[in-house]
Amino acid sequence: MSGNGHGGPSSAAARRGGPDRPGRHAAKAHPDPPDDTDSPDNHDYVDLAASARKQPKSLRRLRTLVVDSVKLSWSADPRTFGITSALQLLGALVIAAQVLIVKEVLEAILAVTDDDAGAGRVVLPVMLLAAVTALVSISAAVQVNQQKLLSELVMRTTWRKMLDVAGAVGLRSFESPDFYNRLQRVETNALTRPFQLTQGTIGLIGGVAGSVGLSVAIVSLEPVLLPLLLLAGVPLYFTSRRESRLEFEFAVAQTPRLRMRQYLGTIQTGRDEAKEVRAYGLVGALRERFDHVYDAFTADLRTHLRRRTHLAVAGNAASAVFLALTLLVLVWLVSRGRVGLAEAGAAIVAIRILAQQVNMLLKSVQNIFESGLFLNDLDEFVAMQPAAERAEAGTTAPARFTSLTADGLSFTYPGSTEPVLRDVSLHMDAGEVVALVGENGSGKTTLAKLLAALYEPDAGAIQWDGRDISTYSRAGVRSSIAVVFQDFVRYFLSGRENIGLGRAERLDDEAAIVAAARRAGIEDALNALPDGLNTPLSKMFKGGRDLSGGQWQRVALARAFFRDAPFVILDEPSASLDARAEHALFQSLRDLLGGRTVLFISHRFSTVRTADRIYVLHDGEVIEHGAHEELMALNGHYAELFRMQAAAYLTAAES
Ligand SMILES: Nc1ncnc2c1ncn2[C@@H]1O[C@H](COP(=O)(O)OP(=O)(O)OP(=O)(O)O)[C@@H](O)[C@H]1O
Ligand SMILES: [Mg+2]
Repeated sequence: MSGNGHGGPSSAAARRGGPDRPGRHAAKAHPDPPDDTDSPDNHDYVDLAASARKQPKSLRRLRTLVVDSVKLSWSADPRTFGITSALQLLGALVIAAQVLIVKEVLEAILAVTDDDAGAGRVVLPVMLLAAVTALVSISAAVQVNQQKLLSELVMRTTWRKMLDVAGAVGLRSFESPDFYNRLQRVETNALTRPFQLTQGTIGLIGGVAGSVGLSVAIVSLEPVLLPLLLLAGVPLYFTSRRESRLEFEFAVAQTPRLRMRQYLGTIQTGRDEAKEVRAYGLVGALRERFDHVYDAFTADLRTHLRRRTHLAVAGNAASAVFLALTLLVLVWLVSRGRVGLAEAGAAIVAIRILAQQVNMLLKSVQNIFESGLFLNDLDEFVAMQPAAERAEAGTTAPARFTSLTADGLSFTYPGSTEPVLRDVSLHMDAGEVVALVGENGSGKTTLAKLLAALYEPDAGAIQWDGRDISTYSRAGVRSSIAVVFQDFVRYFLSGRENIGLGRAERLDDEAAIVAAARRAGIEDALNALPDGLNTPLSKMFKGGRDLSGGQWQRVALARAFFRDAPFVILDEPSASLDARAEHALFQSLRDLLGGRTVLFISHRFSTVRTADRIYVLHDGEVIEHGAHEELMALNGHYAELFRMQAAAYLTAAES
């Protein structure tokens, strides 16, 4: 499809840019594909503007876009596309036939005035004209609905493609602003552009057929008229081309502003934000920013629309001059007796309809140009899929390991220069419970994600029984791992699904879901909900209920238990648990997880000390490791942190 000079899936912007959302992590797991657009412009919307300038202009680009649009519409549903196009062609034929029938009617009417007896001859052509007119309206009505259906189907195809890619790409893609912005654009445009695109494509088919049909009709009436009419189309072609370019530039320039407007709107209406917005009294301040952004947009919109109006007026005025000229020529021809009155009447009708058809044609071209941006995004987005799938492919992973070794792992986030992990080594035997401790930002979560096969290290390797896990299919490796993330997802689905999604294939294993809920200590709370395990866990849905922070954490734990994987990673699984629950969790961790290998991250040293082994991360490096007693005896960083926390508790207890 249309190439536009972009760098590809993970362009330079991906490497340069930082995360665009707090709390999202990613890594540079694979070498970037070659990138020839390493300019400061190659970023988000700006690179679109640049690529738009690089686009082959007008006709060649139009051809590519038309081919792409037809392909997309066809792939959405060949039958609907076929029917819609056929109706459009039929409509065009009938429109052209209308002109010739008008001529017949006029001839018959003129004959009537000459000779009273001929009134009967008018009836047939008039009936025919009525029938044809009815046919035009009927086909238009059918077509409106067909086209609506086609748009919906194109939208569906677009969503499917988009979701395929979003699910296939590695986690690091979500770190790239370039990827994320493109995903957002495709997502937003998926709602509106398919309609514009199908309208443009179908309109173009009808417009071309109608214009050709009418041109033939006009030539058959009087050949001289056609070139004059073509001249009338020229100014319209140029102004409408200019208009769509203006529209495109406007859309590109406004993208960041629209996104900000959307965001400011969301935080003022969001349920999650509502409490903080009120507690901090932010209504006025946020509203002001919203208004400010909106005002700036409407001001630009006014200017933009004024320019478009000027262009449209100029184009239509120039075209009207040529049209008037054509009509003058027609009158002259009639006065010279070269053209009969009936032909002249029919020609006027034809010219009138042709103007409509040409307008439709140009509007369709404009629609196609305007949805071109969306087509490009979709194209480039879809192009990422094969590489993404290749990157995660490998041989079948074993179901479990007897020993896990991380050897000299280094890792730098895309966009930063400072490594987050440096030469980190770690060892775990199956069945061990290992703890990871360290200050905020020391790299614990990052290491957990590497061990969970979500990112790949820049240097070093993670081995299961001596074999690098990057040689296995990543999906297979992950299948043997259950992770509870620090920022786990609260699915706004039922409690049953929230737990069952731990292993979606076994979603209807009721007994196992209930058992997992029990082990995580959330069974009673879920049963107490109005519809038990089937109650939606969000007030966003009818009959839904919300849970407390700690209850949510238990649900996340239950999900991991249900996954029933031999390797379990818990990133601060007790941060929201009450003291009793936390104590119970860690006391029973070994029982709960029945001989599984566990890596847990915690800031609470009372729980950490129960681990078989503890790794202390500091500034991306493992500075100490060993059992609690060993580390206390070492009297280093761990001992210091441990005593600090213990002292805080003691002081609090004494006072
Ligand atoms: N997506 C990212 N892009 C760039 N840098 C990141 C990203 N995520 C984390 N970092 C940085 O990497 C470092 C380690 O982060 P990490 O989340 O691994 O820390 P952590 O030890 O889990 O901290 P905490 O105790 O707060 O959870 C931090 O300095 C952080 O700023
Ligand atoms: Mg963390």
